[in-house]
Amino acid sequence: MSPMFPANRNRTPSRANGSWSLPGSEYGDSRKKPHYLWRFLLTALLTAACIIILKQSSGYNRFSHHDPGVTHVLVTGGAGYIGSHAALRLLRDKYRVTIVDNLSRGNMGAVKVLQEMFPEPGRLQFIFADLGDSKAVNKIFSENAFDAVMHFAAVAYVGESTLEPLRYYHNITANTLTVLEAMAAHGVKTLIYSSTCATYGQPEKMPITEETPQVPINPYGKAKKMAEDIIIDFSKRSNMAVMILRYFNVIGSDPDGRLGEAPRPELREHGRISGACFDAALGIIPGLKVRGTDYETADGTCIRDYIDVTDLVDAHVKALDHAMPKKVGIYNVGTGKGRSVKEFVEACKAATGMDVKVEYLSRRPGDYAEVYSDPSKINSELNWTAQRTDLKESLGIAWRWQKSHPKGYGTPSVGFLRA
Ligand SMILES: NC(=O)c1ccc[n+]([C@@H]2O[C@H](COP(=O)([O-])OP(=O)(O)OC[C@H]3O[C@@H](n4cnc5c(N)ncnc54)[C@H](O)[C@@H]3O)[C@@H](O)[C@H]2O)c1
Ligand SMILES: *[C@@H]1O[C@H](CO)[C@@H](O)[C@H](O)[C@H]1NC(C)=O
Ligand SMILES: *[C@@H]1O[C@H](CO)[C@@H](O)[C@H](O)[C@H]1NC(C)=O
Ligand SMILES: *[C@@H]1O[C@H](CO)[C@@H](O)[C@H](O)[C@H]1NC(C)=O
Repeated sequence: MSPMFPANRNRTPSRANGSWSLPGSEYGDSRKKPHYLWRFLLTALLTAACIIILKQSSGYNRFSHHDPGVTHVLVTGGAGYIGSHAALRLLRDKYRVTIVDNLSRGNMGAVKVLQEMFPEPGRLQFIFADLGDSKAVNKIFSENAFDAVMHFAAVAYVGESTLEPLRYYHNITANTLTVLEAMAAHGVKTLIYSSTCATYGQPEKMPITEETPQVPINPYGKAKKMAEDIIIDFSKRSNMAVMILRYFNVIGSDPDGRLGEAPRPELREHGRISGACFDAALGIIPGLKVRGTDYETADGTCIRDYIDVTDLVDAHVKALDHAMPKKVGIYNVGTGKGRSVKEFVEACKAATGMDVKVEYLSRRPGDYAEVYSDPSKINSELNWTAQRTDLKESLGIAWRWQKSHPKGYGTPSVGFLRA
């Protein structure tokens, strides 16, 4: 008789006598020992099988362990516009990515696109959490083995920041401190921080270099400057590797049309110029309002430096590659070329093929005439240069995504192929 599959079964014994066995297994004094051995082996085998299956299906353990040759990057705000593009690039470059976002402003649709592209275990995980919740943040750091953090999560509208300053100091400055503390507590040693040209305020001399004094003039710029200061002070007393990237005006989207910029409709009034251009082209708003035509610039409208998001995420990967312990690298990320609002409007019309109505109004208080970068430091130290400097082309790519997603990620519609 096989001890494994006994033909004759007694009733399951009561637990009163101290012994216990699985239903369907035999219970007899004389054959007790060999049976326990078999049971033990069977249980061990099943457990091992379960662990293997769990590991394969969830990949959980891959995120909680350092694997040689794999760099695991925490992307905060990875459901947002820039963070999702950065996550896509990192995943394509074989990084392991954990996105933390509380979807207050980002889109689960963007995360879904990435999950569908990278379904293999151990590539991408999404964690829904609020960076303002330090307990949750610490739990995430204790359960995951991060090698680096790209900290994108923030609120990012200048106009809104003047109306709700506490929202900005809380969600930019305080949350960055929380992330930094968690990194210190859990020995994560590389930080790439999203900063902004708004930290410079209204400098007299153009172009802006990294040495240009930072005198921010709105709560958004001030909150980012404070976060920078906290990071820099801390890094002096630790062996952390830090890269601070100060972006200029970010435009464009994934050239293959998988991701785009989809801000909340209620933020439209604070929106950026490219969003307004597309909204006007889609007929969601009646037209573009250009405020100020009497600035001391060539055509009287403001001058800005527009950086394509694909170039921007390339700068992040290069920054990650070059990050060195005990060093803080601070870099402007821009094209180095100023474009007027009039030029932008013309590019918008050409890119969308729509006759966008333009209304010229008087100046808006707080706008400065000219802002553009000197990107020579990032050029020489990280070998990074903006490649996508044709406004019409960048806007054309973004427009195709907007046109095929009129309700943002809410309406997944037929994708488009690269033209
Ligand atoms: N877009 C630009 O032109 C620009 C220019 C300079 C700097 N930046 C900086 O780049 C970063 C990304 O900007 P974006 O344009 O992609 O913005 P975004 O609003 O599209 O993305 C920010 C993401 O952070 C998430 N987030 C915000 N608060 C959070 C919290 N407390 N917990 C968890 N998640 C939270 C949001 O849900 C959102 O997904 C920001 O730090 C911003 O200041 C942007
Ligand atoms: C996201 O985080 C903010 C704090 O930064 C919080 O006030 C808000 O309620 C959170 N949203 C969600 C959906 O959890
Ligand atoms: C930011 O912080 C404020 C608290 O000052 C909170 O009410 C708000 O929900 C937070 N989150 C966002 C995304 O603004
Ligand atoms: C700099 O980047 C270019 C491509 O953008 C590459 O061809 C070149 O080899 C790089 N130079 C160095 C020194 O890495």
